[in-house]
Amino acid sequence: MPSSGDPAGRDRHPGVGTPVGPQKLRAPRPSTPGRSSGGPRSPIDRTTEPRRPRYRARDVNSADPIRPIDQPARLDALEAAVRRRSDLVPELGIVLGSGLGGLADELEDAVAIPFDELPGWPAATAPGHHGRLLLGHLGGRPVAMLQGRLHLYEGNAVGLVVQPVLLFARLGAKAVVLTNAAGGLDPTFGPGTLMVIRDHLNLTGENPLLGPNADSIGPRFPDLTEAWSPRLRHLLHVAGKAEGVEMAEGVYVALTGPSYETPAEVRMYAGLGGHAIGMSTVLECIAARWAGLDVCGVSLVTNAGAGYTGEPLTHAEVLAAGAAAGPRLGRIIRRFVEAYRPA
Ligand code: HPA
Repeated sequence: MPSSGDPAGRDRHPGVGTPVGPQKLRAPRPSTPGRSSGGPRSPIDRTTEPRRPRYRARDVNSADPIRPIDQPARLDALEAAVRRRSDLVPELGIVLGSGLGGLADELEDAVAIPFDELPGWPAATAPGHHGRLLLGHLGGRPVAMLQGRLHLYEGNAVGLVVQPVLLFARLGAKAVVLTNAAGGLDPTFGPGTLMVIRDHLNLTGENPLLGPNADSIGPRFPDLTEAWSPRLRHLLHVAGKAEGVEMAEGVYVALTGPSYETPAEVRMYAGLGGHAIGMSTVLECIAARWAGLDVCGVSLVTNAGAGYTGEPLTHAEVLAAGAAAGPRLGRIIRRFVEAYRPA
């Protein structure tokens, strides 16, 4: 049960200073102390897991390890903070990667919560990442959106990097759409290529599920055979075609960054079966599957992999290509959301 009152002990003014596109923010909900967390809980929560300590945001450093068994208490606090501002139950969670945040402007009736107003979350530091959680409607469907994300390369613990997707599940979402900016390993992928993620190679050296498991969230050994949902991949392709875009499909390779790859590494990762490469997404996928969410995703290829063109890579180029192709991906995701129904 979430505790009442602000876990961070701060005086919050929901929505103030966090406008969402042209729409007006909704008035904040009155606080609902003692409100129970969404969805039925199995009795297992209370019998097999340790008593949840009251979680205090100000005690937390974003690099401190968060084990799977620690997540339920963290999610209690996060859910309570969100529910003080919005009672929207999202069908879908959407993570908007570098330069792709524009879709957030299309949310209707949106409530926006900056990351650093959520217990334990730091402000996003990556350029091109706003760092807000939004709840609202897209194409008439209730969604939660992450405008920006938490990366390993910012020094965040892996357990924190995956909290947004776990929070989506806690708020009621049944599926998640993960987007990112990526380099092209497939030499036929030029800037602007949209790649539906078919599978991934987790080369981050991390796994969010290491340590004692939280059985109330998911199993000890989650299956990843169909980590990237065939049904949702099909829906993405249909949405793309409706927008006149033939999307590619391929394997996303994840590293920690923040340095880009060397040309020799790009050749190696292409040889290992990768088609696009980046610094995010796979850990979120693993955690989302653990929590029972269906997962799909799209990489926006912003540049050819290092060494393919002979030109150096820059983050500015990545952001510019994201800005150029982002609206197209936004339209596709909007169509996807309109067509999506939970399984
Ligand atoms: N490599 C890794 N991450 C990236 C790249 C890249 O070439 N482009 C955008 N994100």
